[in-house]
Parts: sequence; structure tokens; C-alpha cells
Amino acid sequence: MKNENFVYKTIISRRSIRRFKQEKIPIDILKKCVNSARLAPSAANLQPLEYIILKDEEKCNKLFEMIGFAGYLPDWNPSLDEKPMAYIIILCSDQKNKWYFRDASFAAENIILTAESYDIGSCVLCNIKKEKIKKLLKIPDEIIVDSVVALGYKNEQPKIVDYKDSVKYYHDKTMVLNVPKKPFEQLCHIDKYKK
Ligand SMILES: Cc1cc2nc3c(=O)[nH]c(=O)nc-3n(C[C@H](O)[C@H](O)[C@H](O)COP(=O)(O)O)c2cc1C
Repeated sequence: MKNENFVYKTIISRRSIRRFKQEKIPIDILKKCVNSARLAPSAANLQPLEYIILKDEEKCNKLFEMIGFAGYLPDWNPSLDEKPMAYIIILCSDQKNKWYFRDASFAAENIILTAESYDIGSCVLCNIKKEKIKKLLKIPDEIIVDSVVALGYKNEQPKIVDYKDSVKYYHDKTMVLNVPKKPFEQLCHIDKYKK
């Protein structure tokens, strides 16, 4: 199969990006991101999720004030000249759907991988001010704001480091974001659980 490793390579090379070039993302790519979310797995195929693509500069600037980046770096936030250039807000229109949370995770993953396939960086954000976002985007009361995906061309290249005793990501001396990941052997069991 052609490009047989493309999805795997895209997945393992993707890192959350929080510093962006100030270049606009074509609307077609943003729509592809949402289209890939629309076609994600959905519990009982109920498809309770909806999406807002936010690309208007003024509104993006307002949203920027309503989202929290990098909880492990309390003294750091993207500067205004490295802010995200677009957002996709993931919504749920069915309050009775008990599984929407999982649907939203699959949708978010499809969004970030589609973005990655166009070399666009992303960060899923749950540290968000939902009520303020509802007001800004005129989202009706009955609609749940699940999460926000921040998007933009990458202005950083985070790297994976071996997990030692902390999961906390950090900037090294050169301001490269180091992201500890636990080793495969610790997390993968074959045929039976081993301690
Ligand atoms: C459910 C969820 C919520 C997240 N919320 C935030 C957030 O509010 N702010 C942020 O900067 N990153 C957020 N992240 C990104 C994680 O910090 C990031 O995935 C993690 O540090 C691992 O880095 P990686 O994505 O580069 O592998 C979130 C990720 C997930 C899965």
C-alpha cells in the first residue's frame, strides 16, 4: 500500500504546539479538519457533536483571553506574536448523550492529525472559560462547549524525552519544549499483565 506508514509517522511525530507563526491557515484546510471530525467514530453513531471554525482575527484575539496554555509552565503563555491563528471549538448538541465525551476525544484526535498532515500545529485545550466562549460566539444555553483546538503553522519543535520521575513538560535552556513520555515496555503488556 502506498504511503502505508504515513498515518503512523504522523501520529508519532505530532506534539502539542503552543507557539505559532502568524500566517493564516486556508479555510479549506480548516474545513477538512472538521470534516475528519464529522466522520470520526461515534457511540451508537448518534453524532452529537458540532463545530465552530474560528478564523476572524478580532474574535480569535478575544478567544485567546479565554483559554489556558501549558498548565505545567505557570509563568509562560504564548506571546501575542506567537498566538494561534485559528480555532475549532467542539460542541455537543445533545445533553442526554452519555458518551459525547468520548466522541469529542476521537473528533479532536482527527482534527489534530488532519492538521498535522498539512504541517499545521495544534493543541487541544480543556482549560477554557466555557461561559465566556458561549457569549462570544453566541452559542445557545443548551449547547455544551466541550473543548477548543488551537491551530497554526508551527513556530516551535517540541521533543520527546525519556520519562524519569515526572510527567511535567518543560522548556530547556534553548526554549525547546521537552515532553516526557513513559516507555513502551512500561505501558504495553503482551498476552498477560506483568508487574
Ligand atoms: C483532554 C486534554 C486536555 C488538554 N488541555 C490542555 C490545555 O488546556 N492547555 C494546554 O496547553 N494543553 C492541553 N492539553 C495538551 C496536553 O498538555 C498534551 O497533550 C500533553 O502535554 C502531551 O504532549 P503531546 O500532545 O505533545 O504529546 C490537553 C490534552 C488533552 C488530551
